[in-house]
Amino acid sequence: MQSVPATMAAWTKTRDEEGGFSLEEHPVPSPGPGEVLVKAQSTSICGTDIHIWKWDEWSRDNVPLGTITGHETSGLVVGLGEGVESHQIGDHIAVECHLACWACPRCDEGNAHICENGSIFGVHGHGAFAPYFVVPAVNARHVPEGLDPGHASIQDPLGNAIHTLTGGPVEGATVAVHGLGPIGLFAVNAAKAMGATKVIAVDWDNRYRMALAAELGADLVLGKGDDVVAAILEATGGRGVDNSCEFSGSAAALANTIYSTRMGGYVNVLSVYGQSMPSVPMNEVVFRYLHLKGINGRKMWSTWDTMHDLLERGLIDVDKVLTHRLPVSDFESAVQLAMSGDCGKVVLDFDA
Ligand SMILES: NC(=O)c1ccc[n+]([C@@H]2O[C@H](COP(=O)([O-])OP(=O)(O)OC[C@H]3O[C@@H](n4cnc5c(N)ncnc54)[C@H](O)[C@@H]3O)[C@@H](O)[C@H]2O)c1
Ligand SMILES: [Zn+2]
Ligand SMILES: [Zn+2]
Repeated sequence: MQSVPATMAAWTKTRDEEGGFSLEEHPVPSPGPGEVLVKAQSTSICGTDIHIWKWDEWSRDNVPLGTITGHETSGLVVGLGEGVESHQIGDHIAVECHLACWACPRCDEGNAHICENGSIFGVHGHGAFAPYFVVPAVNARHVPEGLDPGHASIQDPLGNAIHTLTGGPVEGATVAVHGLGPIGLFAVNAAKAMGATKVIAVDWDNRYRMALAAELGADLVLGKGDDVVAAILEATGGRGVDNSCEFSGSAAALANTIYSTRMGGYVNVLSVYGQSMPSVPMNEVVFRYLHLKGINGRKMWSTWDTMHDLLERGLIDVDKVLTHRLPVSDFESAVQLAMSGDCGKVVLDFDA
């Protein structure tokens, strides 16, 4: 094991403007009690990183200037804080970015992903567009044996997809995935892997991603040229799908999910809708007895268990969704690429 340096260069949000990142010198952090020090191997770019790049109102309210961002990451444990017995030097881990207190009523009832005192690694505090970072040991999840670090780093969005899907039936069920960004693409892949009988993938105009969804096994792919609701009803014997998942952030797509889900079916919404308040056809929800559910993060730890099972059995085709791998020195162009949409997941790799 190589020795840990005293300082490191890390991508830091330094300026109060769009872009506004620079490669800054920081001390390598030391792990506090219950924490581990991790040498980063791969960190992927998330929609949240794009919000921080664009420096929208949410980012200005949540991300202190001077923060090293990046939260979808994997690496090697190189230091142990006082009292850490769950990990050893050299362990391969991936980060669960929701940092929980483990003492509030939400944590006690098994909902630590919505901890009342929670914060997000790489958003509210320093993260992983850096060669080294510290996290609570419980958030450093051991990865399945032999998993490529790039594949390990995308478990946060893959976990989002699985958490959303499992808000309703998947095995033996018909599933519609609205919005084919990286998370929607993982949902198409995971729904097939989990035994959905029919998966309908819907985007607006992103042909690149619609083609990827077809390669990942979607039975039907729809876009802006289609009457989405009519096409889903036609493909499901007029009933609608059992389980609709919304990953587009579009109010129109949210309405489509509600009109194309069967009586008593499930509508699971991971999307964040920006400034506007989408109007929801509530009478459809009520009279057709739909289960409409918001989804946040990943269940700690049942989503991770399901995900590891699928990864270990080789059922997730991560390489199809992970379309671009770049060195971390290309951070700025990688964010531009992710913003363009001509990609699936974009991952930054650190030196071995
Ligand atoms: N709740 C959470 O914990 C959480 C975590 C991560 C991401 N998110 C949210 O999940 C969503 C998905 O993230 P992502 O990074 O995969 O998204 P993305 O922005 O990369 O992709 C969205 C896709 O939706 C498509 N789209 C636009 N309008 C559409 C419409 N009317 N119908 C169907 N598709 C349409 C776009 O063409 C694009 O391909 C985002 O809204 C993101 O903010 C939520
Ligand atoms: Zn993320
Ligand atoms: Zn808590």
